[in-house]
Amino acid sequence: MSSLRRISVHLPPTGALDYTIAVGSDILDTAVSELKSFLGTRRSMVLTDDHVHEIWGAAFVEKLRGSGMNIECASVPQGERSKSWECAQTVLAKMMSFSLNRDSGLIAVGGGVVGDLGGFAASVYMRGISCFQVPTTLLAQVDSCVGGKTAVDLPTAKNAVGTFHQPKAVYADTRFLNTLPDSALANGMAEVIKYGAIRDASILALLEDNTSKGLEGLSDLWPELVTRCLRVKSDVVAADEFDRGERMILNFGHTAGHALEVVTGFEMPHGEAVAFGMSTACRISESLGLIDSSVSERIDRLLDRFHLPQSLPEDASIEAVLECLPRDKKASDRKIRWVLLRDLGDAFVTDEVPRDRIVAALKRNTT
Ligand code: GLY
Repeated sequence: MSSLRRISVHLPPTGALDYTIAVGSDILDTAVSELKSFLGTRRSMVLTDDHVHEIWGAAFVEKLRGSGMNIECASVPQGERSKSWECAQTVLAKMMSFSLNRDSGLIAVGGGVVGDLGGFAASVYMRGISCFQVPTTLLAQVDSCVGGKTAVDLPTAKNAVGTFHQPKAVYADTRFLNTLPDSALANGMAEVIKYGAIRDASILALLEDNTSKGLEGLSDLWPELVTRCLRVKSDVVAADEFDRGERMILNFGHTAGHALEVVTGFEMPHGEAVAFGMSTACRISESLGLIDSSVSERIDRLLDRFHLPQSLPEDASIEAVLECLPRDKKASDRKIRWVLLRDLGDAFVTDEVPRDRIVAALKRNTT
């Protein structure tokens, strides 16, 4: 049964780049008919990864072709390694070999890696062609499919090369989530909790009320949950498309989280690192007198429910994390930028956190 919801992403000043996100369970037929209206019979390409290709991608390509569309398909190996410069070159060469032109579209069907890589390839191929996102993981559905940030990694830095290239449309079918292992859902759940913490505390209540016996409690609620998260994301992106101000609140948990990812050589899943980072940011907010301990405890309880860590793993030291905290490369004083809470649903950005407060928060978040 389809349960289609729509969210509009409005991008000032002209609105020329506005687009719609469709969310629901079993919405792929809608996606096919709308993609057909966008692209007609112009030669276009689906980009996916080998795992998604097997379970959803090949069937989706057949549906698109069955509607009369002229679709080629390229697949990259599953995993972060595919978000590389070399892989981007391979994808671009495929696009050229398929004779895609400036009227063609690229349809990215997959998780964050495929979405970021596909968005990047679409943004530079012939100076930019249309990109459509069909996200298949929770992380991609609530975060990376919207907002137009594209990226590939360099060997020395994640997301080091990229563009802003908004999709033309997004189709988030929550049926995809049923095929994900709990660990992958938990990874995305960190970002879900983030939206609750920074802007819409009703997301936290929805999780608290429906997951006491596990993630199955969400099986009928995914469209509602994904929609609430995407409303927050699209509002924030609409206010600050190019990440110069308000959009930075989407990095709640990402300061200490990023440091921990670096310390663990990016072995730790992103969501786990962000969970630790959110807990740390709550402790800092608490020690600055901005929130009381009940707020941090509420976030920690939810993280715990999804087995997301709040403390440093035993083999990571406080000193190593302090050393790897990301510094603002553009500012000459290279300060550390934190996203803190004044309350649940009320986040702000600051680079004025005394070092002793950071150390104290990290100490509290040590096992
Ligand atoms: N994932 C953070 C952003 O889109 O700005």
